Amino acid sequence: MKILQKEVLADADGIKVTKMELSAAQIAKKAFAGQFVVVMVSEEGERIPLTIAQRDPVRGTITLIFQEVGLTTKLLGKLNVGDSIYALAGPLGHATEIKNYGNVIVIGGGVGIAEVFPVAKALKGAGNNITTIVGARNKELLILEKELKALSEKLYITTDDGSYGERGLVTDILKELLESTQLSYDVIYTVGPIPMMAKVCQLTKVKNIKTIVSLNALMVDATGMCGCCRVTVGGNVKFSCVDGPEFDGHSVDWDELGKRSNIYVDSEQHICRLKNL
Ligand code: FAD
Ligand code: FES
Ligand code: MG
Repeated sequence: MKILQKEVLADADGIKVTKMELSAAQIAKKAFAGQFVVVMVSEEGERIPLTIAQRDPVRGTITLIFQEVGLTTKLLGKLNVGDSIYALAGPLGHATEIKNYGNVIVIGGGVGIAEVFPVAKALKGAGNNITTIVGARNKELLILEKELKALSEKLYITTDDGSYGERGLVTDILKELLESTQLSYDVIYTVGPIPMMAKVCQLTKVKNIKTIVSLNALMVDATGMCGCCRVTVGGNVKFSCVDGPEFDGHSVDWDELGKRSNIYVDSEQHICRLKNL
């Protein structure tokens, strides 16, 4: 699990997003769009899930794109080319159901852009007509613009401060597209912060458009054994790691997911302070 390439994609406002190519031949052979790996940076470290943003079965590598938000992602960001990570498990989770749906809108917010990218690529390969909407806090923090532009019929960009693209939220653009009569859409695929995904689903539910979301539920073992990643979908308890991570966005209990994802924030911040990170 050696790091073969490392590139900082964005570093502004205290937010750093890094792309890392790792040697992982077995995972690269078997992974599909929508799947993730669990990473242990060091032997004493915790396990965190990260999406497989790219894979190269010929080189025997996978690429991860991660935002440094806390202890483990900061420790991962400190590793350099030539270093190895302690352990990697995957591919995990169900792959996205890729078929020719017709007109698809792909929506990514923040580091969620890295998570929608492999799915957008696979959907394009299956013949879909892709409209992409991506949102970032500002121009410096926007990632994968060139890559997404290459596979989208139309790419819309929003920034919170208006430094690039339209000032506003991805859901402002989505609302306009759904209200326009120029094109009808068959499927929406979205990954990003929980409030963003919840708002996307609210808008698409009114129009009755199938909406697939990839949930960022807290995970520990990621093999269905601990129950940490439980989410309520359509009134039933599901384990996001083995039943997901993708679900029908119109059936997700967003309030519960939001509350559960914040339950360890105090301890997470405490441990970062202890480690001076
Ligand atoms: P912490 O300070 O420990 O946590 C910060 C916040 O991250 C927490 O409040 C919580 O909301 C979330 N988090 C913490 N631990 C976990 C955990 N074990 N599982 C899930 N969420 C956690 N991030 C990326 O930057 N790129 C990706 O491609 C990506 N893919 C993901 C795919 C899946 C299926 C899931 C569930 C999450 C993904 N994430 C991704 C989120 C990533 O796992 C968290 O940012 C990371 O675990 C934070 O850990 P930390 O120790 O650095 O931060
Ligand atoms: Fe333990 Fe899903 S992470 S059951
Ligand atoms: Mg952590």
